[in-house]
Amino acid sequence: MSVSEIFETMDYGTAPESAADALAWLVDQGDRFGHFIDGAFTDAGEGFDSRNPANGEVLATLTQATQADVDAAVRAARTAQPRWEKLGGHGRARHIYAIARLLQKHSRLFAVLESLDNGKPIREARDIDVPLAQRHFYYHAGMAQLMEAELPDAAPLGVCGQIIPWNFPLLMLAWKIAPALAMGNTVVLKPAEYTSLTAMLFADICRQAGLPKGVVNIVTGDGAVGEMIVDHDDIDKIAFTGSTAVGRRIREATAGSGKALTLELGGKSPYIVFDDADLDSAVEGLVDAIWFNQGQVCCAGSRLLVHEPVADLFYAKLRARMDKLRIGDPLDKSIDVGAIVDPVQLRAITDMVAANDAGDVHVAAGELPANGNYYPPTLITGLNPADTLMQEEIFGPVLVSTTFRTPEEAVMLANNTRYGLAATVWSENVNLALDIAPKLAAGIVWINGTNMMDAAAGFGGVRESGFGREGGWEGLASYTRPKGRVKKLKEIEPFTGEGAPVDPIDRTAKLYIGGKQARPDSGYSAPVWGKSGALLGHASLANRKDLRNAVEAAHAAKAWSRTNGHQRAQILYFIAENLSARADEFARRLDALQGGKTGMAEVDASIRRLFTYAAWADKYDGQVHGVPIRGVALAMKEPVGVIGAICPAEAPLLGLISCLAPAIAMGNRVILSASEPFPLAATDFAQVLETSDVPGGVVNILTGAQADLAEPLARHMDVDAVWSFGPAALSAVIEKGSAGNLKRTWVNNGRARDWMGAEGEGRAFLQAATEIKNIWVPYGE
Ligand code: NAI
Repeated sequence: MSVSEIFETMDYGTAPESAADALAWLVDQGDRFGHFIDGAFTDAGEGFDSRNPANGEVLATLTQATQADVDAAVRAARTAQPRWEKLGGHGRARHIYAIARLLQKHSRLFAVLESLDNGKPIREARDIDVPLAQRHFYYHAGMAQLMEAELPDAAPLGVCGQIIPWNFPLLMLAWKIAPALAMGNTVVLKPAEYTSLTAMLFADICRQAGLPKGVVNIVTGDGAVGEMIVDHDDIDKIAFTGSTAVGRRIREATAGSGKALTLELGGKSPYIVFDDADLDSAVEGLVDAIWFNQGQVCCAGSRLLVHEPVADLFYAKLRARMDKLRIGDPLDKSIDVGAIVDPVQLRAITDMVAANDAGDVHVAAGELPANGNYYPPTLITGLNPADTLMQEEIFGPVLVSTTFRTPEEAVMLANNTRYGLAATVWSENVNLALDIAPKLAAGIVWINGTNMMDAAAGFGGVRESGFGREGGWEGLASYTRPKGRVKKLKEIEPFTGEGAPVDPIDRTAKLYIGGKQARPDSGYSAPVWGKSGALLGHASLANRKDLRNAVEAAHAAKAWSRTNGHQRAQILYFIAENLSARADEFARRLDALQGGKTGMAEVDASIRRLFTYAAWADKYDGQVHGVPIRGVALAMKEPVGVIGAICPAEAPLLGLISCLAPAIAMGNRVILSASEPFPLAATDFAQVLETSDVPGGVVNILTGAQADLAEPLARHMDVDAVWSFGPAALSAVIEKGSAGNLKRTWVNNGRARDWMGAEGEGRAFLQAATEIKNIWVPYGE
């Protein structure tokens, strides 16, 4: 192109980045890769090609891991773990820092290799993926350094199996490996089969950095290798990023195994533009929201909601901007949109869009290259909220849109999705933006910006976008467990009273639903016997119908989630006061139920526990993360929603209160399945609740067989989390059942807990009772 032509068209010239060094590195490795196990590369075996999506050329051949390879990797990680842990925070920090430095030193090589392998524009790999990956290692070198001082009660989980997708191959690797290593874990990581090359280069960096062998192990292959990792007996935690369908399968596969699990899944994130927004900025934001990485971004702003008064103007500006997007060779530095990762993904996008006949379609004017996996930036306006393309993740450069009239309608449309990963709000009115942010069901909210990420701010979603956070202090919980030996839960059988005289007066305790005593739907109850064989009363047998009623009541009580911490504290103190007034009676009841003399100690501990959470109700604060942008991320702690809890059999009053109090202190509503052998402490306690100003529906108490309630609770689509401190066998039932709406679970897997002691309360409970929403707000200059 001549200079005069450039002046004529004002078009950009090409600015190609050389692939020479990256291709030379591949040649140096023999163009074939084995796995990275125990600090060395294995010989390459049977495998598959990794292709350049921009031209279809084979870049290298990778090895499909066998079960023996996965076993060897897990063994290496297991052997290395104790020494890595004992190295201490500072020792680990030095290694993680060394990795960060080497990533920085080789950043151009990483960026070019990533662009070649994935098809993303080199500008993005160079300016976003690679710097953020480095930052993650720097940040977590710091977390390793601070671990002993700041998290004195935290211990590593052990060996972590990590499975990552192809959209941000190096960055997802960093998100997984850096926090795991910082907290003293070792890892077996599997990159996605389309994009394993930067993971191989990273393995080389680990070698260069002198990382002890076995701390990082990388095996390559497809989903079958992922399954081998998920199913491996000697892995303590699975961390997965990828599709919701696979995430759900992993949830089911790990149920009851005792493995910790975090899932970072898909999204259909709303991008809300109000009429007072800076429309040009909002258009520019959309380029980053949906055309960044060709829209293959889990948190992509893929669902545009525009305020009706400005919709026509905004769409016109957007179409004009789309027509200027440059689509082409990812290694050209003046390219905006690169290639789709693989023909399979290209076909999936093409088919999804082709199946739609609703709305008005605008396809960007830019010419597509003749070869390679390209898909044009596309905008589809005028869709209905229920249209498939408004609900399903396309994972391509396709933006779908509808309009709204009022802020309330915007929130309703935004939340009309099974996902809850991210959301974006554009408005020049700070009051409006900060009013909307808390109402959005999402783990991340960006105000007047989008797709901002940083190691200091937790990333992750709610609903079917998964659970767990990556990054920030909040991300460390996913890689640690409380210190201390694990004790096995002893199951408790109820007393029987055969032959004992039956009390002629009917004392059948009812269920407590929606703030009222309720007869069980089944119409049945069961006798409760004391140790001496005396009949203490009858407890109602709740069934699924009662459970559904309780969930409905809990939903209706959603105003509780909007009360402030001070108000919730007052109610918790009031409950404690009313329990205290009846302490003797409760102590006698507990002694009669359990057959012992611990009743008064349990009542005392229960009152203390209520005080503890009354204290926490207005003190479990969020944080302001200092992120390196012109702004801050407000890490707000929000209630999870409706929590179902299977209460422990032992400590029938204290156990119940230990579930109830943290949950309601944080603004949740609860459904409690009371101690099965000793249910009458809970039904007596319902009377205390009735006199303590607890709004109806905030606490619901069911008695009867916990096994009958566990599964429907776990499967209920309107329950947001389930905890289980009951019989060991219920853990698997709950984890498996939760796969439906991917609700959070917290189960004991047969581990005993000392309810009287420190592990019966505290931060673990508060964490389980809250979700962290990171709201990115412009601030400062
Ligand atoms: P995927 O979920 O199948 O792949 C992600 C990773 O999981 C890869 O490493 C893959 O080998 C592994 N995997 C596949 N099946 C597995 C199994 N049964 N057990 C354990 N690991 C398994 O995603 P895929 O098929 O590549 O893409 C399909 C759709 O998934 C995309 O169109 C997009 O909607 C979504 N997706 C979402 C991502 C996100 O970041 N949230 C990333 C990639 C895909």
